[in-house]
Amino acid sequence: MKIDILTLFPEMYDGFLNTSIIKSAIDRKLVDIKTTNIRDYSLDKHKKVDDTPYGGGSGMVLACQPIFDAVKALKKDNSKVILMTPQGIKYNQKIAYNLSKEEHLILVCGHYEGFDERIRTLCDMELSIGDYVLTGGELPSMVIADSVVRLVDGVIEEGSHLNDSFNNDMLDYPTYTKPREYEGMKVPDVLLSGDHKKVDEWRKEESKKRTKERRPDLMKKFMLVRSTLKGNISIDKLKGYTLNPKNNAKRNDVITVKNLNIIEQSFSENVAKKNIDRRVQKLLILIMKVLDTDDSDDDVLVLDEADRIKSLLMNEYVKILGEDYRNSIIKKIDYVVREFNNKRRYVYEEVMEKSGKSR
Ligand code: ADE
Repeated sequence: MKIDILTLFPEMYDGFLNTSIIKSAIDRKLVDIKTTNIRDYSLDKHKKVDDTPYGGGSGMVLACQPIFDAVKALKKDNSKVILMTPQGIKYNQKIAYNLSKEEHLILVCGHYEGFDERIRTLCDMELSIGDYVLTGGELPSMVIADSVVRLVDGVIEEGSHLNDSFNNDMLDYPTYTKPREYEGMKVPDVLLSGDHKKVDEWRKEESKKRTKERRPDLMKKFMLVRSTLKGNISIDKLKGYTLNPKNNAKRNDVITVKNLNIIEQSFSENVAKKNIDRRVQKLLILIMKVLDTDDSDDDVLVLDEADRIKSLLMNEYVKILGEDYRNSIIKKIDYVVREFNNKRRYVYEEVMEKSGKSR
């Protein structure tokens, strides 16, 4: 993976790039992270990068030319250009995970009072690391680069992020190390029992308990997704359609089948269409539930699920479903997501109007 960071302050990254896991990932060539000074691309004879805002107002605004030229110089077909801004979608672990699968990220950091609105047209995504305003996008870009890099294959020990807080929308379970007792506080007996099954059960339970107590919003999200999207059918890329039957028949004259592969083309096509239909229906239900919560943090659930269905259509189902059918469903999903975003924007604008904010 390659990460290019466009900034006016490359020196801010010295510690970040030369310490601990990030340094080791760079040294082992698992990631290539470069900072580029936006000022180097300024065509102004004094290397100016900002100007006063049209219509008046305080502060300086980053101008288009240096950032447009810098992005154009770095951007390739596989690049994802991301703008750091408090107006972006709120960053979370799922976005980190998705970004870790990209080949090339270009993180654009604003500074001063903001940037010319037209800079937005350069970007595939706008991200905010939280509802507060920093002096620039440098710290957010480090937060994003750090959380993405640790998910890149080989950067940290295999599987050690599987239990991270926020994976599966749950907080991590408590952990302990030696000694067994410290200032009267004992390590729970189950962790010393050597019984791995019991340890796993305890950890799952603690993780649930913790999430319920500390982050009821996450718990709600977890239940929402679980109840709406449960039960998938997947297609094996080579061998047709794979079903995982529920095996809940209450009879003793049936055989239990773990996996069922369907390789008859027309049958595969029917089952695949049914699965897509079902997932689109569930996406619509999820959208209604999420709109009902009025919590824009949940928007990512809808966007993720829409992406997942589109990815099924564009990857696993390519050999099974015709192009026209796949395109028509993708168009439908894009339409529904656009409408969803419009509705969200409307809610957001209403809130902004009420609070009289302009940033
Ligand atoms: N730039 C300034 N504040 C920011 C934030 N909270 N997230 C992303 N970029 C920012």
